[in-house]
Amino acid sequence: MRKITIAIDGFSACGKSTTAKRVATILGYSYIDSGAMYRAVTCFFLQHHVALTNPREVLQALREVRITFKVNTRGVSETYLNGLSVEAEIRSMRVSEQVSQVSTLPAVRTAMVDQQRKMGRDKAIVMDGRDIGTVVFPDAELKVFLTADLLTRAYRRQQELLAKDDLVDLNVILDNLIKRDEIDSTRAESPLRKAPGAIELDTTNLTIEEQTDEVVRFALALMLKPVG
Ligand code: DC
Repeated sequence: MRKITIAIDGFSACGKSTTAKRVATILGYSYIDSGAMYRAVTCFFLQHHVALTNPREVLQALREVRITFKVNTRGVSETYLNGLSVEAEIRSMRVSEQVSQVSTLPAVRTAMVDQQRKMGRDKAIVMDGRDIGTVVFPDAELKVFLTADLLTRAYRRQQELLAKDDLVDLNVILDNLIKRDEIDSTRAESPLRKAPGAIELDTTNLTIEEQTDEVVRFALALMLKPVG
């Protein structure tokens, strides 16, 4: 079977990561959560009080950031920052409130995109984010753009946080999603856009299983296509 690259983009809390992770498991592909990389950088910047308005400080900090992924004993991929798991911290509201600002910085994007392209060199990868189909892998064989209505997304995010014993008011989450949508889609550098040729999938009324199935079907059709 042909090895392909699968790029999954969309707004926050559309189920991108869950879908991408499941698709990767079914196909035996690697999975990279590019949002987790921007979150890990944000974590580092917060820990070290990096001034986002100071390009030299930002560049210096980026040199000290090493992001890796490791599969834990439950088979779940965890994000590591300089050798320490930051999986819980990167999902906190504190990081969520800062990450869109950090990810508008060109130096941050350049560093992350470089690393993401290296990770995808051998194909057989599913990567989710905001600019994967437009910037990171514009030649990906399969590009998917996920959408869902705002309330559904807020409710899903609330459930996700609740599963980690973090009860957050729906209005706080709605406010955060609206702000992030605005920053993510209007920023000058790699704004969130549906890539040319991307398949749009509205997940409002789909279960995770249904949206995973849809993507797997598209992927298999491409993987089974004779080369040339
Ligand atoms: O997918 P997520 O919500 O974990 O992403 C967190 C933030 O990172 C999101 O608000 C925008 C940014 N991001 C980005 O700019 N580019 C990506 N490829 C992935 C995420």
